[in-house]
Amino acid sequence: ITGSVRPRPLPWWRGERAHLLRLAEAGTPRYVYHLPTVRERARSLLAIPAIDQRYYAIKANSHPAILEALVQEGFGLECVSHGELRRVFDTLPELSPRRVLFTPSFAPKAEYEAGFALGVTVTLDNVEALRHWPEVFRNKQIWLRIDLGHGDGHHEKVNTGGKQSKFGLSAARVDEFVDAARALGITITGLHAHLGSGVETSQHWRLMFDELAGFARRIGTVEIIDIGGGLPIPYSAEDEPFDLERWGAGLAEVRAVHPAFRLAIEPGRFLVAESGVLLAGATQVIEKDGIHRVGLDAGMNTLIRPALYDAWHDIENLSRLDDSALGPFDVVGPICESSDVFGKRRQLPVATAPGDVMLVADAGAYGYSMASTYNQRELPREDVIDAPAR
Ligand code: LLP
Repeated sequence: ITGSVRPRPLPWWRGERAHLLRLAEAGTPRYVYHLPTVRERARSLLAIPAIDQRYYAIKANSHPAILEALVQEGFGLECVSHGELRRVFDTLPELSPRRVLFTPSFAPKAEYEAGFALGVTVTLDNVEALRHWPEVFRNKQIWLRIDLGHGDGHHEKVNTGGKQSKFGLSAARVDEFVDAARALGITITGLHAHLGSGVETSQHWRLMFDELAGFARRIGTVEIIDIGGGLPIPYSAEDEPFDLERWGAGLAEVRAVHPAFRLAIEPGRFLVAESGVLLAGATQVIEKDGIHRVGLDAGMNTLIRPALYDAWHDIENLSRLDDSALGPFDVVGPICESSDVFGKRRQLPVATAPGDVMLVADAGAYGYSMASTYNQRELPREDVIDAPAR
C-alpha cells in the first residue's frame, strides 16, 4: 500500500500568540489546550471505516473539557483507576457506563468491585485475580488483556509487551484463564492488548488484531477486539507524521480476514498531544563555562517527559517569536535534579531575558496528568481555548 502523508500544518498556537501571551499574564506555568485541534484529531480517527469503536485513554489528559469534547465526538473513555472512573462520572454524570472501559493493572480488589458496580466494561489480565477473588468476577462479562509476547514504543519505558512487561496475561496461559473463567460462569466478550506507546510501525496494530483474532476464535464468545492505543505524533521536525490512511487501509485488510470481530482502539497521545502547549516564564538567563542556559518557572515536576524518556519537545520564546538573532541555549527548570532539563542546545533568541514567555510544544498528552509538586512547587494551571462548534 502506498499512502499519502499529509504535510505538517503550522501548529495552532502560531495563530493564537497574542491570546497565549495574555493568558500567561495570569500566571505561569500553565498548560493551554486547543479544543478544535482535539476535535480535528478525533474526526481523523472517526473517518477510518475499519474501526468500530473508539475509546480515549484519559490518562493522557483528563481535563473535563477534553473529556466532554471527545465524548461529544462519539468516543468512549478508557480508565485505569478508580480515580479516573470518578473523574469521568463527575464530569459526565449522564454518560452511559457502556461507553467506559476499565483497564487497571495490579489493582486492588476494591477497584474491580467499583468497576462492576458502576456497570463499566472491566478488563482483566491475570488468572490469579479469579483465584483470589472469585466472588468479584463470578457470572460477569469481562474483557481479557493478553500480552502477545512482543512490544514497541518510543522508549523502553513505554513498551508494554513481552516477558519483561508487567501487563497482560501471558499468551501461554490463555487456555488456563478460559477454563478458570468458565468455571465461574464468566463470559469473555472482548480481547484487549496494548503493547506500547509512540509506536512508529504501521504493521504493529494489524498484527495484533490478527493474533488476537486467533485467540478469539478459540474462545468462542468474543465479539470485539481492542488493539490498544500507541499512535505516535511528530514531536520534532524530523519525525514523519503518522500515515493514518495507510494505517486504516491495513486495518481494513486484516478486519476483512476476520469479519466476525468488531475492532476497537484506545489512543491517548494522538488525540491530545498536539492540542496542548506549556507556557512558562523565563526566570534567569545564565552563562556558565560557555554554556548559556535559560531557566523556566516550569520544571520536570510540570512536564516530566524529557527527564523520564529523553523526550523531545519543541521550545520557542513566544515573547520574541520574530527575532532572527538566535543562539544555543540549554532550557532548564528550577528543580534540584540534574535531569531537570527540557532541551539542550536549542536555538533561541539571543535576547531571551527574564520574564519572557516560553512555550513548550506538543505537551497536551502526559503533561499535566503526570505533574507533581516535587520540591513543593505548585501544580501548573490549565486553560482551554475553544472555537464555535463547526
Ligand atoms: N491503553 C492502555 C492500556 C495504555 O496503558 C495506554 C498508555 C494507552 C491505551 C494510550 O496510549 P497512547 O495512545 O497514549 O500511546 N507517559 C508516556 C506514555 C505512557 C503510556 C501509558 N499507557 C509518555 O509520555 O510518552
